[in-house]
Amino acid sequence: MKDFSGKLAVITGGGMGMGRELTRQLAAEGCSVAICDLSRDAMAETHALALEGAAANVKITTHEANVSVEEQLMSFAREVGEQHGTDAINLLFNNAGIAGGGSFVAGSRDEWERTFGACWFGVYYGCRAFMPMLLNSTEGHIINTSSINGFWASMGPGVPHTAYCAAKFAVKGFSEALIEDLRVNAPHVGISVVMPGHIGTEIVANTIANQSPDTLPGLIENQGGVLAAGAADAGADEVAEMIEAFATHFRESAPTSAAEAAKIMLEGVREGRWRILVGEDADILDREVRSRPEDAYDGSMVQHVASLLGPGGPE
Ligand SMILES: NC(=O)c1ccc[n+]([C@@H]2O[C@H](COP(=O)([O-])OP(=O)(O)OC[C@H]3O[C@@H](n4cnc5c(N)ncnc54)[C@H](O)[C@@H]3O)[C@@H](O)[C@H]2O)c1
Repeated sequence: MKDFSGKLAVITGGGMGMGRELTRQLAAEGCSVAICDLSRDAMAETHALALEGAAANVKITTHEANVSVEEQLMSFAREVGEQHGTDAINLLFNNAGIAGGGSFVAGSRDEWERTFGACWFGVYYGCRAFMPMLLNSTEGHIINTSSINGFWASMGPGVPHTAYCAAKFAVKGFSEALIEDLRVNAPHVGISVVMPGHIGTEIVANTIANQSPDTLPGLIENQGGVLAAGAADAGADEVAEMIEAFATHFRESAPTSAAEAAKIMLEGVREGRWRILVGEDADILDREVRSRPEDAYDGSMVQHVASLLGPGGPE
């Protein structure tokens, strides 16, 4: 797809981060957009920002939906049809996601399944709900957001990261398998899988907001490193400060902004690339893991990659 003008895009998780920036950039290029999110307030902000820079005749609609609940995505698809007066969409960005659910062995099952539900089932249900509208288009493209954790299931030494990695590997595998399926059964629909490195977004804050309060201190101490040392023994106020410091550090230390990431993703779609790595950190990690697959989870490899990535590390 070379041109987004006059097209209709659907974006899950359009309230913040990369989903918001995709909405803004597509609207500026003359593409109408329907976004869904858990947060009405965040979507209202995205709506206002995107309209400011939108080209003429662009329509932006917002829809409250949790991507891990299939019925909510089916309702989202119905609303898109009604509000945009069409039975076809051109672009589907399955972007919504949260981290968390680090340890399968020692963590809470609810948290594990919440993360897996948003990151894997969100993509799967998104494709199920919108496939009929993509098939009805004359030109369609699916963009599924995986991660560097879709080809490297680690956050570095000592930090289990199982639910997110399992979901992101599933997203990458599903997207790659759809390449041939679409070629055979729907050649007018393309697909890309996006693998961002560390991007400056609200994902840490949003992930933490999704965890149960009793597991927060442990989670923060585990993930926040020196910024959150001692969280397990800290009081509620101190934990709240640590959370804020960690979320701010994550956003501000990122080598790639959400706006830059959205630009790279849209360029990748225009160029028809099935795999879109986002950020130099993602490029480095991809090369290292491919060149030394057997060493991918050795401590020395993990440290080597972490040193090449710099202090921000992967998400
Ligand atoms: N930020 C990074 O470093 C990074 C790296 C690799 C991959 N990713 C992936 O990129 C995607 C976008 O993340 P981001 O970094 O922009 O995060 P973000 O938290 O800034 O934005 C994500 C948006 O998705 C929404 N959301 C979360 N769970 C949802 C659900 N169940 N239903 C509907 N909406 C939901 C949030 O409310 C938020 O508005 C995610 O899939 C994430 O896993 C992010």
